[in-house]
Amino acid sequence: MTRPNLQTESGRIVGDNQNSITAGKRGPTLLQDVYLIEKLAHFNRERTPERVVHAKGSGAFGELTVTADITRYTKAKIFSEIGKKTPMFARFSTVGGERGSADTVRDPRGFALKFYTEEGNWDLVGNNTPVFFIRDAIKFPDFIHTQKRNPQTNLKDPKMVWDFFSQSPESLHQVLILFSDRGIPLSHRFMHGFSSHTYSMINAAGDIHYVKWHFLSQQGIKNLKAEEAEKLAGSNPDHYQEDLFSSIEKGDFPKWKVAIQIMTPEQARNQRLNPFDVTKVWYHKEFPLMEVGFFELNKNPENYFQDVEQAAFSPANTIPGLYFSPDKMLQGRLFAYADTQRYRLGINATQIPVNRPRCSVHGYYRDGTMRVDGNGGDAVNYEPNSDPSSPFENASYKEPPIAIDGEGGHYDRYEDSGNDNYEQPGKLYRLMKEDEKARLVSNLVASLGAPSVPNAIKEKQIELFRRCDADLGKRLADSLL
Ligand code: HEM
Repeated sequence: MTRPNLQTESGRIVGDNQNSITAGKRGPTLLQDVYLIEKLAHFNRERTPERVVHAKGSGAFGELTVTADITRYTKAKIFSEIGKKTPMFARFSTVGGERGSADTVRDPRGFALKFYTEEGNWDLVGNNTPVFFIRDAIKFPDFIHTQKRNPQTNLKDPKMVWDFFSQSPESLHQVLILFSDRGIPLSHRFMHGFSSHTYSMINAAGDIHYVKWHFLSQQGIKNLKAEEAEKLAGSNPDHYQEDLFSSIEKGDFPKWKVAIQIMTPEQARNQRLNPFDVTKVWYHKEFPLMEVGFFELNKNPENYFQDVEQAAFSPANTIPGLYFSPDKMLQGRLFAYADTQRYRLGINATQIPVNRPRCSVHGYYRDGTMRVDGNGGDAVNYEPNSDPSSPFENASYKEPPIAIDGEGGHYDRYEDSGNDNYEQPGKLYRLMKEDEKARLVSNLVASLGAPSVPNAIKEKQIELFRRCDADLGKRLADSLL
C-alpha cells in the first residue's frame, strides 16, 4: 500500500516534516517557513473551551427500539410503532471535575441522550439521579461554584460545599443519594439514567400528559466503595472511558430499558407535592413505571474530539409530541445549553456531524463562523416572501396552551419552601439497609468532617439531616460534634 502524501491545509504537498527552514545550518528560523507557522498555529488552537460543567465524559452511538405503544400519550413519530428503531448518541459524564479529572469521584453522573428522529433531534439531558440539588435556575451558578475550586487555594473545598448545602435544604434529597452507595457507580454502564425533570407529551388530539423518563441499566446497578474508587482514581483515572470503549469494542453492547411515569394535568393540579419540583420524585406506587422500549450503544466514535467533545446536547431540542413543563428550573436550562454552545463551539455548532439533524432542515438563518452547509445557496433569505418554494410555518405544529397554576396572574419571585424538603430524603434513608446506612454516614462524615468545615456549618447541616430522620441526625452528631 502506498502512503498518501502529507499536505498543508490548503493542499500543498509537504517536502520535509522534520526540519524547519533556517538561515544557515545553525539557524535562526525563517518567517518564510509558512508550513511551520501553520503547524504551530493549528496546534496552538487545538483546545476549545471545556464544558463549564460535565467536562469529563465518554460517548457512543447506538439505537433506540420501541417495544410498547404510547401513541395515546404522544404523537412523536419516534414512538409511532412497536419495533421502530431510531439512531442515537449518548454521552455520560461527571459534573464538577475538569476535562482530565478522574472518573471515579463522588459526583452525580450526566446521562445525555440525542435521538436523530425524522422530525429533528430530540435530546434528553438527564443525570443518573432522579432529582437535583436545587429547584431554581437562579441558584445554579452559585451551586456550581461550590463544586469547583476555591478561588484562592485552587483546591476543592468542603467548606464551600457544606456552607451552600446547609443553607439550601432543598438539596437534601440529592445529597443523600450522592453520599449513598450510588454516589460512585462502578462505571457508566452500571447506572440508571433519569430525565429528573418533568416533561410533557402531547398526543394527536392535542391532549397533554406529564412525564418523567427512566433509563434502567440492563447491566444492573453496581457501585464502588469509597476506598475502591479512591484507589482507581490514582491507578486508572480514565476507568469509565476505558470500560465503555472496550466493552463496545469487544461487542458487549450496554443496554438500558426505557420507561416512563405518566401524570395527567388533573392529577398534577391535585398533587400535595409540586410535581414540577426537580428535587422530588413521583411515588412509583401512585405513578408506576411503564415500559416504552430499550436502547443499546453499539458503536464507538471514530474520533473522540469530533464526536464526544463537540457534542452539544440541549433540553430545548424537542420534537412535536414531546414538550416542556412548568418546571421553573427546566426553563433556565432551556436557555443555558444553546447559549453556552454558541460560546464553546460557535453559532453553527448544529452543523457539526454529531449534532446535525438527520432530517432536512430549511430556514432563514445565514452566515456566522464555520458555516459549512452551503449557507442556503441562492435561496431567498427572508420571510414573509412570495417564493412558493420557500419554507413556511405550519400551524398544525403549534403547541397546545399549557395552564399555569393557581398563583397565575401575578409575576413574582415565589419561594417554594416548606417541610416537604425533608419527607422524601427521610423515606429514602429509612429504605436503606443497615450496612447502607452505615456507609452513607461514613461517607458524609468523611466530607462534612473535613477540618476546614466550621462547627457552625456542621451543626446547621446535621439539624437538616435530623429533620429528615432523627436517627440519621443522631448518628452524624455522635460522629461529628
Ligand atoms: C451540561 C447548565 C441543570 C444535566 C451543562 C452545561 C451547562 C449546563 C451550561 C454545559 C453544556 C455544554 O457545554 O454543551 C445547567 C443549568 C442548570 C443545569 C443552568 C440548572 C438551571 C442540570 C440538571 C441536569 C443536567 C438538572 C440533569 C437532570 C447536564 C448534563 C450535561 C450538562 C448531562 C452534559 C451534557 C453533555 O454530555 O454534553 N449544564 N445545567 N444539568 N448538564 Fe446541566
